[in-house]
Amino acid sequence: MIETLPVPKVELHCHIEGAAPPSLVTRLAGQQGVDISGLLDEKGKYAWTDFTSFLKAYDLASSVFKTPADYALLAETYFRMLAAEGAIYGEIFISPDHAQAAGLSYRSYVDGLAAGMERAKMDTAIEGRMIAIGVRHFGSAAVEKVAKEVIGNPHPLVTGFGLAGDERSGHPANFSKAFRMAAEAGLGTTAHAGEFGGPDSVVAALEFLRVSRLGHGVKAIEDPDLVKRLIDEDIVLEVCPGSNISLGVYTHLRFHPVNILRKEGVKITLNSDDPPFFGTTLGKEYASVAETFGLSHEDQLEVTRTAIEAAFCDEATKNRLLVRLDSARQNAGS
Ligand code: ADE
Ligand code: ZN
Repeated sequence: MIETLPVPKVELHCHIEGAAPPSLVTRLAGQQGVDISGLLDEKGKYAWTDFTSFLKAYDLASSVFKTPADYALLAETYFRMLAAEGAIYGEIFISPDHAQAAGLSYRSYVDGLAAGMERAKMDTAIEGRMIAIGVRHFGSAAVEKVAKEVIGNPHPLVTGFGLAGDERSGHPANFSKAFRMAAEAGLGTTAHAGEFGGPDSVVAALEFLRVSRLGHGVKAIEDPDLVKRLIDEDIVLEVCPGSNISLGVYTHLRFHPVNILRKEGVKITLNSDDPPFFGTTLGKEYASVAETFGLSHEDQLEVTRTAIEAAFCDEATKNRLLVRLDSARQNAGS
């Protein structure tokens, strides 16, 4: 039977530019005079065919956000949508490089996003934090520059540092300095690995970046010793099944390793990555995984608990989120 009891949800892996609804991008492109031809298909959905063209489409969609007010609107829109699906907390990946390409300073970018998050929180009580990412295919100097910018301009809502972009470019060793600086400054750290790369890419991220969480990380399933290491070292996976299916990492959800990893004892969370690009939402991720693999209400609450415990926020916030989670459990009588 499909459980319909409400599940408070948490998102740990969503790229804010990748969460922009096509309607918002189209509207801003018109206002700003940005040419977005080719970005959308005839149904108004993002048009891309593989990871490389997805990254290009993502860059073009990002280019319409040019002012703090644009970013405030984007963050408010995303967090309101998240809250409407029952989410109580979300972490967004922010990309200072994309903001800079659109002519915005790091501070204006973060202030704009924070204003939008605050507006959504006032109405819906949803909590949020930001994880600044370096883009891997921009090279180690660019990634270190992001780390320095984040550390030199502390903001209470920017609590993490991460690495995204094309996993096929650059060895994690190139980014170890940036991650060391971020960790020493007290930021939580996460890196994309084991999405397109194999288990070796996961091992390299752990060795050279010393992260507590991995974006995707699902290819670890191909190496039993690595699965054991993830369990022993308490590494949390930000799993994005819909993204993986869309990008062809797996052909169908029933062949996705998320539930095997979970049953083996790896800490997994469920996430939407770049929701409108992949035709998904956080709610759809929880629902499709629950339905395909038979996750109970209690199992889904456990996914959210894992995410809260792994979140890059202070203990008091985590405790408040856990109270909200426990009240859902009690209300369900589970
Ligand atoms: N940037 C935006 N989405 C991404 C993804 N799924 N993987 C790597 N980098 C990204
Ligand atoms: Zn991602």
